Order: sequence, then structure tokens, then C-alpha cells
Amino acid sequence: MESDKKRILVVDDNLELAEMIGQLLGRHGFRVSIAPDGRTAVEKVLSESPELVLLDLNLPDIAGGEVLKKIKETDKNTAVIILTAYGGEQVVVDLMKAGAEDFISKPFDNELLINSVKEVFKIRELKMEDKMYGRLSSFEKFFPFLAHEIRNPLHAISGALAIIQRRSNLQDEVLAKSVRIIQEEVQHLSGFVQECLDFIRPPVRSRFIQVDVNEVISVVINIISHIFEDLSKKIKIREELQPKLPQVLVNYEEIKQAFLNIVKNSFEAMGDKGELVIKTRFKAEPLPGWVEIIYTDNGPGIKKENLRFLFHPFFTTKLRGTGLGLAICRRIIAERHNGKIHVESEEGKGTIVTVKLPRTQASEVTGEYSR
Ligand SMILES: Nc1ncnc2c1ncn2[C@@H]1O[C@H](COP(=O)(O)OP(=O)(O)OP(=O)(O)O)[C@@H](O)[C@H]1O
Ligand SMILES: [Mg+2]
Repeated sequence: MESDKKRILVVDDNLELAEMIGQLLGRHGFRVSIAPDGRTAVEKVLSESPELVLLDLNLPDIAGGEVLKKIKETDKNTAVIILTAYGGEQVVVDLMKAGAEDFISKPFDNELLINSVKEVFKIRELKMEDKMYGRLSSFEKFFPFLAHEIRNPLHAISGALAIIQRRSNLQDEVLAKSVRIIQEEVQHLSGFVQECLDFIRPPVRSRFIQVDVNEVISVVINIISHIFEDLSKKIKIREELQPKLPQVLVNYEEIKQAFLNIVKNSFEAMGDKGELVIKTRFKAEPLPGWVEIIYTDNGPGIKKENLRFLFHPFFTTKLRGTGLGLAICRRIIAERHNGKIHVESEEGKGTIVTVKLPRTQASEVTGEYSR
């Protein structure tokens, strides 16, 4: 798939050379874009989020060192290989200190260039993995093992319970009630374990696909009407979807999960009547352009003193809440998709949750932990 290819931006005012490098990299399976000057380079880093930039130092407008600085400010995980014709050693040393990954002196042969590119990608990936694992708290490292130990007996309990239900006379009301309680508690505990796992699960790299957000919303509404079978007859969902939204490159399952959590919160908050408006729109500015999803409910709203805790893991005001719904949303939207999520609410007046997703989710793998 085209979007699976690693992106490289070649910055050189010698367009013939840039094209030649582009073709060479293209033959090695990279997706290449070209910028003839520093200004275009900075713009393209922002709009295309290349994983690697091949940067000529001698540009007509902005000094190469300055461009390097701007690239690293935009996304410090964008790797940069300096192409230099005059590479006085001190210049190169300074640039490596400023964050460049490697340098190549012109003229160079093709093999040297390809080897350097591949090596930089290899190191970059190792660094990302390290960072990802290093970021995990001991809870996050330990919990999957614990989850395994909790789930096995839960399965056994469910199985045994099914046998009891089949074999015993549940006409006995006390017995029937007890069985129901065990069932509910098992379900609750399974749900809790699953939510914790969703929260800490590392991102799945391969599932980034182009989606139309309007379609995800239709799917979410459909799922919600099954989860809240009775309530969904009393709670109205009004869709104000902008037709022909630009697509976004997202992990479909994760985004669906995040939207579900938001809609579920509205349903849980509104109780047995209310209206949820789901609106989508596209904003071209600032670059790269954002698809916005705005959820407005007319539920009871949120107490002012609670607003700052909403995204904290395990913060809940619900009797049986886990308090991970919004924490998962933030992880998915902000950390894994370079998007934004914002909650606005006033007690008694309802709640507005705004999600913004960048139009081209270019750094689908690297962006996950980069900002
Ligand atoms: N639309 C909303 N209206 C009113 N309160 C909300 C809304 N959305 C979130 N909240 C408040 O934010 C808290 C945290 O939400 P979050 O989704 O993280 O956890 P939860 O819903 O309590 O539990 P979980 O989602 O894990 O089952 C909720 O307990 C609730 O107090
Ligand atoms: Mg929730």
C-alpha cells in the first residue's frame, strides 16, 4: 500500500540531482517528495511528515542549519541526513550536534546513499521502540501478566456458572438472583481487565488506513444502539455531518473505540432522555487541515472542579465506572494520531467534546509517541 511506504523528502536546489536521488530511492521502495528550497522544505515537513529528510546545506533562501533546526522543532523524530559539497568538518560536527543523523559528501555513489538511508531508518526504529518501552510505567509492563491470571479463572467461573444455570432449578428466586449477581460481576471484572488492556496496549502499526470519519460515526451509532437498546429509543442522536470530508489516515479500530467512549459517556450522562448532536466539519487552517468531530449532549454537564481530572486514568464519578474511557481517548487521539481532544462543560448545561484529526496523518508510526 502506498501509505505503508516510508516517506523521504529530498531538499536540493539542484533539481536534476534531486530527481535522480528521488528515482533511486523510489526504486528501493521509498515514497519521495522534493523541495527546491528551505521554505518549501519546512512546509513539506509540516504537511507531509516525512520520516527522513535528505538536506542539502547550500540552499538559495534559508541556511541549511536553520532548516535543520526548524525540521527538528516540527518533529524531533524526523531523521535528517545532510548532503554537503563543502562539508568543512566543523560545520558537519555542529549539525550532528544539532540533531542530524548522518552526513554524506557530494559527489557520492548510489550505494553509499542507500546504505546511509537504511542505516538511519534502522537506528530510528530502534530508538522509537526503546522510547515506547521506556515510557511504560511498571503498571503497564506488569498488567498484561496480571490480566492473563485474572482472565483464566474468570473463564472458568463463567463456564461453571453456565453449567449451574443449566442444571439447577432457577425457579428458586434467591438462587436465580445470586447467579445473576455472579454473572454481572464476572462481566464487570472482564470489562475492567479489557479496558485496562486497551489503555496500555501498544499501538498497532499496520492498521493505519484512510477513512471517512462520517462512516466511522455511522458505525459507532449503530453499535451504540445495540449497547443501549432501551435508552437509544429515548435518547435522540442528531447527525450534522459535512458531506465529502477529506479522509484521515487512522487506526480504524482505535478511532472507533475512542468515538464509542465519548458517545457512551453522553448516553450514560443523559440517563433516560436527551439529545446528542454529532457534527463533523473540515477546517483547512492551520496546515495540514483538520477534520473536526463535535459531540454536544444536553446531559447534566460536569462539575467545574472535576474538569481537570477528566483525562486522568481511573477518574470516575460513576458507581461502576472504570474511569479509563477518556484516558484511552486521549491516548488514541492525541498520542497516537497527533490529534486533539477537548471537553467543555458547565453543570446543568450539557457537555461538548471536540476531537480534531489531522487531514493527512503522515507519521502514522512515528507520530504515535513523538509529540
Ligand atoms: N458527556 C459527559 N457528561 C457528563 N459527564 C461526563 C461526560 N463525559 C465524561 N464525563 C465525566 O467524566 C468522567 C470520566 O469519564 P471516563 O469516560 O474517563 O470514565 P467513566 O465513564 O467514568 O468510566 P469508563 O468510561 O471507564 O466506563 C465520568 O465519570 C463523568 O463524570
Ligand atoms: Mg466513560
